[in-house]
Amino acid sequence: MMYSVRITDLEKKFKNGRKIFSGLNLELEEASLTALVGASGEGKTTLLNVIGLLDTDYAGQVELFGQKASELNQAEMARLRNQQIGFILQEPLLIKNMNVRDNILLPTVYLDKGLRKSKDYYLKRAEKLAEQLGVSQVLSQKPATLSGGQKQRVTAIRALINEFWRMSQPDRWMKKTRKSS
Ligand SMILES: Nc1ncnc2c1ncn2[C@@H]1O[C@H](COP(=O)(O)OP(=O)(O)O)[C@@H](O)[C@H]1O
Ligand SMILES: [Mg+2]
Repeated sequence: MMYSVRITDLEKKFKNGRKIFSGLNLELEEASLTALVGASGEGKTTLLNVIGLLDTDYAGQVELFGQKASELNQAEMARLRNQQIGFILQEPLLIKNMNVRDNILLPTVYLDKGLRKSKDYYLKRAEKLAEQLGVSQVLSQKPATLSGGQKQRVTAIRALINEFWRMSQPDRWMKKTRKSS
């Protein structure tokens, strides 16, 4: 069985002493769809921050695509976020002085050279996704001129622009990472 996420005995304590998880275990199979549901304040965002490698201040073990999070350095974490994780935040954080199109294309800029396809390829992909989500008309606009829903859809496209490659081959992913870092 391949897991995209495997968490063992997670415990999270905030700086103010508030403890939120203790002994949390979670296994998510590859290529599965999971909804994390809970009342406000129950820890959804906290857990996603751990899974998304945005928060590394916890006890317990977190494995992503077969790799222990604790064994990844900053560059490896950044690479994993860029290539394997798509985040749609509650707040649609878009870069103000870039138009929507360039915001969407930003994650492709940070792809390893060997993985990056042509700018034209991503442009076409962005346009196709924009069409599917009904935001084609706003691609040349600045984020500030969009409605809340349009901003959310743009952040969804940004999260999808890099194809998640090799989800099923973490060993090869890791070798590539080590070589190029
Ligand atoms: N930085 C923090 N310091 C202290 N407590 C926090 C912090 N962030 C979140 N919490 C608390 O942890 C709990 C879970 O928060 P959160 O994960 O944001 O909930 P959810 O996303 O499920 O609404 C809440 O009770 C919240 O007040
Ligand atoms: Mg939340």
